[in-house]
Amino acid sequence: MRLADCHNFHDFRTLAQRRLPRPIFDYIDGAADDETTYRRNTASFQRCDLVPSVLRGVADVDLSVTVMGQKLAVPFYCSPTALQRLFHHEGERAVGAAAADLGTMFGVSSLGTVSLEAMREAHPTPQVYQFYFHKDRGLNRAMIGRAKEAGVDVMMLTVDSITGGNRERDVRTGFSIPFRLTLRGMLAFARKPMWGLNYLTHERFSLPQLDEHVDMRGGALSIQRYFTEMLDPSMTWSDVAAMVQEWNGPFCLKGVMSAADAKRAADIGCNGIVLSNHGGRQLDGSRAAFDQLAEVVDAVGDRIDVMMDGGIQRGTHVLKALSLGARAVGLGRYYLFPLAAAGQPGVERALGLLREEIERDMRLMGCDSIGRLSRENLRFR
Ligand code: LAC
Repeated sequence: MRLADCHNFHDFRTLAQRRLPRPIFDYIDGAADDETTYRRNTASFQRCDLVPSVLRGVADVDLSVTVMGQKLAVPFYCSPTALQRLFHHEGERAVGAAAADLGTMFGVSSLGTVSLEAMREAHPTPQVYQFYFHKDRGLNRAMIGRAKEAGVDVMMLTVDSITGGNRERDVRTGFSIPFRLTLRGMLAFARKPMWGLNYLTHERFSLPQLDEHVDMRGGALSIQRYFTEMLDPSMTWSDVAAMVQEWNGPFCLKGVMSAADAKRAADIGCNGIVLSNHGGRQLDGSRAAFDQLAEVVDAVGDRIDVMMDGGIQRGTHVLKALSLGARAVGLGRYYLFPLAAAGQPGVERALGLLREEIERDMRLMGCDSIGRLSRENLRFR
């Protein structure tokens, strides 16, 4: 199987699975507990049908949207995700370049493997900085200052990860950063020598957003331990209100799910929220963002930009979310598998296919701009 044979999410996932050592594939593909929420994220789009309009003159289709003051050429963006250079040696550089090429926003994670400054210099396209709120307030202040200095456009605070989700696939393989694996995990690496060769012959693995502050020489830190030991579970709305003031620019909360919380986010001055269950990786059994979208848009859609992520694999999924009132949707595994499968050309192909699907589907729906999509287009089973 080659990149040219990849036509959808499942093809890219299969190719990624062939290329990656099992523990790394499982880190991306896996989710919390029984992975119910992970599966439901995509399934939730299936209980909603599209009702097209015809004969509306759709020769030209405009896919652009504006979210949190950022103009995007397409109604989707690459959500911030951790550890990208582990999946492919180009990591964030490949994802940023592909997003910039398409004219859309991408995120750099606190657990990113390329510095936010390097990404800022490389591309003028809107950049989100994904922020984890640490127990160490000095570290938080330093990270905010650094992001400001670098010229990051949107601050995105993740609020659903104050403790680590129970990812049993990672527990079994011993997946951690820097690598420490169980014996079985190590054997899995031996079966993918090409990945190992690439990893060893490229720039040393690092976490440039945190390296100055986190001493990892003491041993491997699992993602679960990072969340549990370093992040601050005592964080409250007043801490976030203070952070919004300090940032003094576009500010977004990622991981809000209830209408009441969405209202509080608007009250403290956030410009946007992302409805998200972290790809099903945190609280298993939590509702799919798509199922929660209408309620939240009705509550705050006139005050702040509502986005969503989770389970998006098709252009029609994007159209359904936009029809309910989302301003844009975030992608995670949708671009991570292509990254792992083929680096920058992989991500470019995946994002390009999604763009094409959305453009084709907009025509079939009889809509020449995103603003023409509405709930009139939808029926729920
Ligand atoms: C994860 C974190 C790092 O889901 O976002 O693994």
